[in-house]
Amino acid sequence: MQQQAIIDATANYVREQLEGEGSGHDWWHIYRVWKNALYIASQEKGADTFKVELAALLHDIGDHKFHNGDDTVGPRMVREWLERLQVNNALIAEICAIVSGLSYRGAGTSSAMPTLEGRIVQDADRLDAIGAIGIARTFAYGGHKGRELYNPAIAPVLHDNFEAYKSNTAPTINHFYEKLLLLKDRMHTSTAHAMAEKRHHYMKDFLTQFYAEWNATDHLEG
Ligand code: ADP
Ligand code: NI
Repeated sequence: MQQQAIIDATANYVREQLEGEGSGHDWWHIYRVWKNALYIASQEKGADTFKVELAALLHDIGDHKFHNGDDTVGPRMVREWLERLQVNNALIAEICAIVSGLSYRGAGTSSAMPTLEGRIVQDADRLDAIGAIGIARTFAYGGHKGRELYNPAIAPVLHDNFEAYKSNTAPTINHFYEKLLLLKDRMHTSTAHAMAEKRHHYMKDFLTQFYAEWNATDHLEG
């Protein structure tokens, strides 16, 4: 199969799998990550665009959150799909390695990504967690989980392990402190870092306005 045909078939497959998914991993998240990743790859020298596209498209298939924390499901689904398309084994192994190393695991866990393609896809995924889209996804996720927007009595905590991060049920605004505001400094590529700077400032402004409105002090500003 030609590379373009593999990309097209994979995009269709992922769209069918994730259409209508309600917790922030819907098809349009994949679509944005795919576009972000392609843009970053176009700016960074030496990236294999085909690998970047495949990994971006498949990165949330079988996410561990939908399989009771079993993080072998994702790579297995990716492997089965790519075997159906008769993609060679070495490439399948590379895509699986990227997909299984991608997720954010809390403030205390660093994420080494051995390949440039993996670093690009991770940056692209993280860009979609911040900025205007990131804010929207975060509150959509919080609503899906039935959480409060904010509670002034609950101070944000930084989790130093994945278990604590995962089982946290704090109000949605806390997610900015445990993850979103930390992502800018975790970008691997300079292209993504520059994009992240803008999105980061947008979130900071959002938080300032949010607290001002919460306390009815926004009339004092501007
Ligand atoms: P990733 O696919 O990068 O691993 P997640 O699956 O952790 O991201 O999260 C999917 C979306 O839901 C992201 O926008 C993320 O920031 C958001 N999210 C994850 N955990 C929470 C939470 N505890 N509260 C609010 N939003 C969350
Ligand atoms: Ni994702």
